[in-house]
Amino acid sequence: MKGIKVDQVGSEFQLTEDLPNLTPGPNQLLVKPIYGAVNPVDEMMRGSGLLVTSWPWTPCCDVAGTVVQVGSDVTRFQVGDQVFGCQGVGFPGSGGAAERCFFREDVTAKRPDNISLADAATVGCGSETAAVGVWGCLSVAMPDPQNLPAVSDEWVLVLGGGGNVGAYAVQLAKLSGYKVIATVSPKSVEAAKASGADETVDYNLPIEDQVAKIKAATKGGLHRIYDSTSAGINTVKKVLEAIKDEPGQKYFTSVNDWEDFGTLAGDTKFLAISLGPVARPNPEHNQLNADVAKYMKVIQPLLASGKLRVGDYTLFDKTGFEAFPEAVKLQSSGGAKKVVVKFQDE
Ligand SMILES: NC(=O)c1ccc[n+]([C@@H]2O[C@H](COP(=O)([O-])OP(=O)(O)OC[C@H]3O[C@@H](n4cnc5c(N)ncnc54)[C@H](OP(=O)(O)O)[C@@H]3O)[C@@H](O)[C@H]2O)c1
Repeated sequence: MKGIKVDQVGSEFQLTEDLPNLTPGPNQLLVKPIYGAVNPVDEMMRGSGLLVTSWPWTPCCDVAGTVVQVGSDVTRFQVGDQVFGCQGVGFPGSGGAAERCFFREDVTAKRPDNISLADAATVGCGSETAAVGVWGCLSVAMPDPQNLPAVSDEWVLVLGGGGNVGAYAVQLAKLSGYKVIATVSPKSVEAAKASGADETVDYNLPIEDQVAKIKAATKGGLHRIYDSTSAGINTVKKVLEAIKDEPGQKYFTSVNDWEDFGTLAGDTKFLAISLGPVARPNPEHNQLNADVAKYMKVIQPLLASGKLRVGDYTLFDKTGFEAFPEAVKLQSSGGAKKVVVKFQDE
């Protein structure tokens, strides 16, 4: 079948007609990807080979499309359903930049009627990464989507609240009843506020000034920090030092799952976010998939009720699988925030 492949570490993305045809396993759906969104992981994997289990490899883990075949044990979906979700990276059949790809049933959601298929393609990776961090690592209780909690005086600090993952982290923390303070550059202040941030701090300020603003705004109510940037550990360490004598257990999570941050002030509990193996069929990833499945059952109704907002994105002006490498270049160069490509007609 047709799609994009990368032959080996560092090779260019190239269009091919020779990708193997796919047959879904018992718990998998075979999906025709209609839209695919670029994530930083696409270029990272091409350049480093990290998370690739076999070559050639096909990129694009954030897909929305139509179910064309279901595995023998699938019960929640049928042919013709429009679905979305982060469908994993690096294993055979996972790449969305192809005529067909696998979705794993338990971490898949139906597109709600109030968002378009292109919108849906942008939700999976960002919202799931946010959910794993906020609900899984920061010990924040998942809300009942029909009966959201009132906002308390407890705060979550989100580093990078204007990015794709960060904007979902801001929203999920807010919907879970927390106030949010987000670090952003000046161009992202409005985006972070639109996601629900109560306060923003410019991450270009000297760290001491950022820490002083964070401490003054949160007034003893800060116990949870979400780093969506992998660039903010120095800020996190200084913030934790500044609040270490304030009562209450502190929690920190980061999308940076490869670095050892050493000891953190105040006996802070640290858990890294590792969405990488999501949707893989191997049993050793069952716990991650069970967690993400649980989160998707809250994310989907929050989207459907309009309480969770789809992040801003750019629909790329070229279409087809061959447009994906150009879209990756555009997003990686900072030329557009989140780029979505239409791969094929419905
Ligand atoms: N571990 C995992 O499982 C996992 C899963 C998904 C993503 N990730 C990683 O998560 C990161 C974010 O992904 P994304 O899709 O959200 O990317 P993105 O949309 O490009 O967002 C990155 C954001 O980081 C902000 N930023 C950069 N330097 C900063 C600093 N020093 N302090 C605070 N904010 C800073 C930028 O803010 P401004 O726009 O305001 O400049 C930008 O909005 C990527 O590195 C990605 O690879 C990891």
